[in-house]
Amino acid sequence: MIQAKIIGTGFYAPDKILTNFDLEKMVDTSDEWIKTRTGISERRIANEKEACSDLAVKASKIALKKAGIKSKDLDLILVATATPDMLFPSTACMVQLGIGAKNAFAYDLSAACSGFIYGLSIAEQYIKSGRYKTILLIGSEIFSRITDWDDRSTCILFGDGAGAVVIRAEMTRKKEGILSTHLHSDGHYHDLLYIPGGGSRLPISEKIINEKKHFLKMKGNETFKVAVRFMVNAAREAINYNGYAVEDIHLVIPHQANKRIIDAVAKKLNLPEEKVFVNVMKYGNTSAASIPIALDEAVQKKRIKKNDIILLTAFGAGFTWGSALIKWS
Ligand code: ACO
Repeated sequence: MIQAKIIGTGFYAPDKILTNFDLEKMVDTSDEWIKTRTGISERRIANEKEACSDLAVKASKIALKKAGIKSKDLDLILVATATPDMLFPSTACMVQLGIGAKNAFAYDLSAACSGFIYGLSIAEQYIKSGRYKTILLIGSEIFSRITDWDDRSTCILFGDGAGAVVIRAEMTRKKEGILSTHLHSDGHYHDLLYIPGGGSRLPISEKIINEKKHFLKMKGNETFKVAVRFMVNAAREAINYNGYAVEDIHLVIPHQANKRIIDAVAKKLNLPEEKVFVNVMKYGNTSAASIPIALDEAVQKKRIKKNDIILLTAFGAGFTWGSALIKWS
């Protein structure tokens, strides 16, 4: 059987740290409010010379090194992002250039905070079908560029960063690596979390800029409730599909949107705290980068061992949501 295995992980977070105390000086908020409502203490902010692909290249080089793979051996580069360098060409093509992956083809995918799990599913299908062998998947975001820094209800939530994984085909008799992926979306919710302007519906103009329609808008409360329900459903789907019980899961890596969302998901799944990986306090919500950053940190902290069953679950604009179950090997 062809299995799709994650053989290297890496992440990059910009040096600049924006703390809740810094935000107190920018908008009417407090460290206490932000910590109680979100669990976030600080987030990273890219410098003005850095674009999405720059972060992605840095994370990718680490993942490739850990995987022991040369960039010329890559078949495909996939970048999950909602904040590309430009509308086109794809950020993935800029990453290809940046790492010198001359034999790969490259494209972006758009599924907001669920982007990494969507990408994992694409990689899984390409590999298990026998079509491609070695895939670099990156979640990279610079949400600081689409944030309205006067809007206290959103500017406290997001951060910049990139996470990357190398996924490779391996022939084994045992089922291991990516066991399954489960994806969903529902466009009915598109206007609970979106950027109204700057695309083909409302092209960029002085009016759009004056109305601040080129910035992210979110109905936080409604998003919160749906996020919990959908992440729990997706998690159960992956567990049931593989014939496991919640007790069989060694570590859950949820999308790092908000500690309260993560706690609510853990409670509904009856998961003890030590089985849930959380780093939202340090990075905020880095959208498509959040799961691969957390995955690499979990590997570095030795929270993941060989043969562990790892559950990923995410939720994002669209709405999109999904899950993946991995047997680490
Ligand atoms: N500081 C102080 N007060 C604030 C702040 C702030 N930063 N932001 C909002 N408030 C105020 C509001 O104005 C409101 O005041 P009012 O009662 O006088 O009107 C009060 O706090 C409560 O506001 P709520 O929006 O009801 O606060 P809530 O408890 O829902 O928390 C939050 C807001 C943190 C945004 C929460 O709704 C949330 O986390 N939602 C999910 C958001 C999310 O994770 N989105 C990402 C999804 S993934 C993706 O694809 C990007």
